[in-house]
Amino acid sequence: MKKQVGIEALAIAVPRKYVDIAELAQARGVDPAKYTSGLGAKEMAVADPGEDSVALAASAAARLIQEQGVDTSRIGMLVVGTETGVDHAKPVASHVQGLLKLPRTMRSFDAQHACYGGTAGLMAASEWIASGAGAGRTALVICSDIARYGLNTAGEPTQGGGAVALLVSEQPDLLALDIGLNGASTQDVYDFWRPSGRREALVDGHYSIGCYLDALSGAYRGWRERALAHEVVRWGDTLPSEQLARILYHVPFCKMARKAHTQLRQCDLEASAATQNATPAEREELAKSTASYEAQVASSLTLNARIGNVYTASLYLALAGLMNAEAAALAGKRIGLLSYGSGCCSEFYSGVVGANAAQRIAKANVEGVLARRERISVAEYERIMNLASDAPEQLAPAPGEFRLKEIREHRRAYVAG
Ligand code: CAA
Repeated sequence: MKKQVGIEALAIAVPRKYVDIAELAQARGVDPAKYTSGLGAKEMAVADPGEDSVALAASAAARLIQEQGVDTSRIGMLVVGTETGVDHAKPVASHVQGLLKLPRTMRSFDAQHACYGGTAGLMAASEWIASGAGAGRTALVICSDIARYGLNTAGEPTQGGGAVALLVSEQPDLLALDIGLNGASTQDVYDFWRPSGRREALVDGHYSIGCYLDALSGAYRGWRERALAHEVVRWGDTLPSEQLARILYHVPFCKMARKAHTQLRQCDLEASAATQNATPAEREELAKSTASYEAQVASSLTLNARIGNVYTASLYLALAGLMNAEAAALAGKRIGLLSYGSGCCSEFYSGVVGANAAQRIAKANVEGVLARRERISVAEYERIMNLASDAPEQLAPAPGEFRLKEIREHRRAYVAG
């Protein structure tokens, strides 16, 4: 039997504070419906300087190890996907190794390609295991980021922060990956970037949406070609994409998942014999199907709507949200996942939800993690945004979590709760 490889378990970590998105809209003199209905947001996580990408990554990984009973001596690879790392040379992964006392015998590195870095890490880890090079060992892949555009910018309501830690192994209780079917799309574009030394990202917002949709089309068509060849999906009464029980997207803001789903359906409708005689307007109407969006996408967005963009972790937050909502019902069913990183690279892949997914996600207690947060005012959010990144407030971390304590002579020190 072909070796199964994929995600065995996951855990999330989020900043302790959040703002209500309607309150932010009011403070900015914007109709709240633009942020809630136009962008699909409810709340936005606010990371203070003590909650940097290292602290969030280590907190998520510590929770994964503790709650899922991970045997750390079997971890042979640690990859952190991040675009908000803390050093040009020393990777976040090395901090996580030290803070969690992970094996010195493992390989470790950061993967960077904007929001695609986490997926790059997941694919490196799962293909390492599938090839046999892992020799039975597991991999820890952590996606950790703080999305920051700045006060009073168009991107402001799409900020956020957090981390998702994934245990990758030959026991894919959450999601067994269809290794070898992935489709990818890469193009040199300036849609979103953050020059060295800047805390805030630069973005050509509307252009970035177009880049995402173009890259999605290329990646999805690549996956579909291989999935058809392997008879994982077929042209028939339903579209190939409709044969996936759910489809998860990179979620810079929740409404983007809806735009992405429409684009994906367009790719199928343009290639389907059944709609060859339809006009472009008729195809567009079919692509926009609310029923399809509600059935295949909507249930995955609850966590993203309450946290905001988490760059590399956004897709995996959608996976956590989907599993939290529907793991038992989806056991044995195939889902699709679309990763997008500006710059840009996109990858579409699929996997089958495991029989033990419901037990695994229950242990992750994602609702409990969010329930421990504190709602803050817009004034307090603005105060936190104006704090210097190298002078964290001396707050005690919650039990099992980490915070940046200080930076001395350019060396970062962390404290555990
Ligand atoms: N009531 C209801 N809806 C309203 C409204 C109101 N009063 N006012 C506006 N809207 C709707 C608009 O119609 C629009 O919806 P559609 O796109 O469906 O038409 C939506 O609200 C947003 O309105 P605008 O387009 O006018 O908003 P904007 O120009 O101020 O900014 C944005 C939107 C470009 C997404 C901006 O938030 C931004 O730059 N965000 C960061 C970049 C980003 O997330 N890009 C996504 C692709 S790149 C990527 O995915 C990588 C990554 O993680 C960054």
